[in-house]
Amino acid sequence: ARPKVVVCKDLGPAMPPLLERKDVDIVVWPEDRSCERAWLLENIKGAAGVLVLLPDKVNQELLDAAGTNLRVVSTVSVGYEHIDVPLIGAERHTSWLYADVLTEAVADITIMLALMAGRNDGVAYTLVKNGEWCKPNLGWSPFTFCGPQLSTSLSSPTRTVGFLGFGRIAQATLSRLIPFGITHCIYTGSPTSQPDIARDDALQAKYNLKGLNRVDIDRLARESDVLFLLTPGGKETYHLVDAAFLRKMKPMSVLVNTSRGSVVDSDALATALREKWIWGAGLDVVEGEPAITSNHPLVKEPRCVMVPHIGSATFQTRLDMATLAIDNLIGGVFGGEMPAELKRPA
Ligand code: GLV
Ligand code: GLV
Repeated sequence: ARPKVVVCKDLGPAMPPLLERKDVDIVVWPEDRSCERAWLLENIKGAAGVLVLLPDKVNQELLDAAGTNLRVVSTVSVGYEHIDVPLIGAERHTSWLYADVLTEAVADITIMLALMAGRNDGVAYTLVKNGEWCKPNLGWSPFTFCGPQLSTSLSSPTRTVGFLGFGRIAQATLSRLIPFGITHCIYTGSPTSQPDIARDDALQAKYNLKGLNRVDIDRLARESDVLFLLTPGGKETYHLVDAAFLRKMKPMSVLVNTSRGSVVDSDALATALREKWIWGAGLDVVEGEPAITSNHPLVKEPRCVMVPHIGSATFQTRLDMATLAIDNLIGGVFGGEMPAELKRPA
C-alpha cells in the first residue's frame, strides 16, 4: 500500500513537490486555521509521516493514534517545545525533523524589539496613530519619550548585552549588535553544555569586544543592559525569568523574548514593568499564546511592545521553512535524505 502522510496546514507554494507524487496518499487539513485535534487524531491512523506546526502537540496521545507505521515527524519550526522529544526516535519512530533556516530572520526581529522596547515605540507609535502628536505638551522636547540607548554614547561608553542561551540565533543577534558599539557580552548556557572557550575567544577577537563570558544566571540578571532570551524553552527554562530574577535586573534594562513564552512569568514581568524594576520589554512570544486579549497584564503595560510570534515571518524565510519541512517529510517517509534532521540525543 502507498504510505500515507498527514499535513496539518496547506503550505501553499511549498506543496507541489509533495502533491505531484503518485506514490503517497496525502491528507491535508482543509481549513485556514489551526488543525483540530480530533481531525488529526482520526486522520493520523496508519500514517507514515506527519507534518505539524507549533500548535500541534506531538505527544504520546498522537503517537498512539498514529500506530506503528509512523516514521517521521516534520515540524515547520526550529523550536520543539510542542514535541515530546524523548518519545520521538524511541523504537518505532526513526527521526523527527526541524526547519533550521530561520536564524537570520529571528535575529533581525530580535534587534527590532530591542530598539522598539528601549525607545518607547509602544507609547510613541500608538500616540501618533491616535492623532495625538499635535497635543501641546507632546512636541519635540528634550526629555519627552526618552528611553535607554542600545548603542554606546558619550555619557555611557560601555554596553553589556546578555543572552539566556547562546546558540545560533543568539550569535547571529550578537553579530548584528557589534555596529552598535556593544562592549561586553555575557551569556548562560544549559546546565549540561560546556562553555566553548575557543569559540568565545574567537568571537571576542572578531568582534573586538572587551569581554565575552559565560556567567551564572545571577550575573546575567544583574549585569545585562539588554537581555535576550534565546533558549529552546521546555522544562529546564520554565519561568527562569520570574519575580526574583527581574528584581535583580537594572532599572534601565530591556528584556527581549524571541524564544518561548514559557521562559517568562508574565505576571511577574507585568509587575516589573509597572513598578519600574526594569525599563521595558519586547516580546514576540508569550505564555498562553495565542489566547492573548487586551486584558492581558502585559498587553496593558505601555512599556511592553508585543508582536504575535512573527519572528520568522518574512516571505523568504517562511517559504524556506515550508520547503524544508516538505523535503524532510518526503525524505523521512521514503528513507531518502532528510535535509534538516535533528538527531535524537544518544
Ligand atoms: C518559531 O517559534 C519556531 O520555532 O520556528
Ligand atoms: C533632532 O531632530 C535634532 O535635530 O536634534
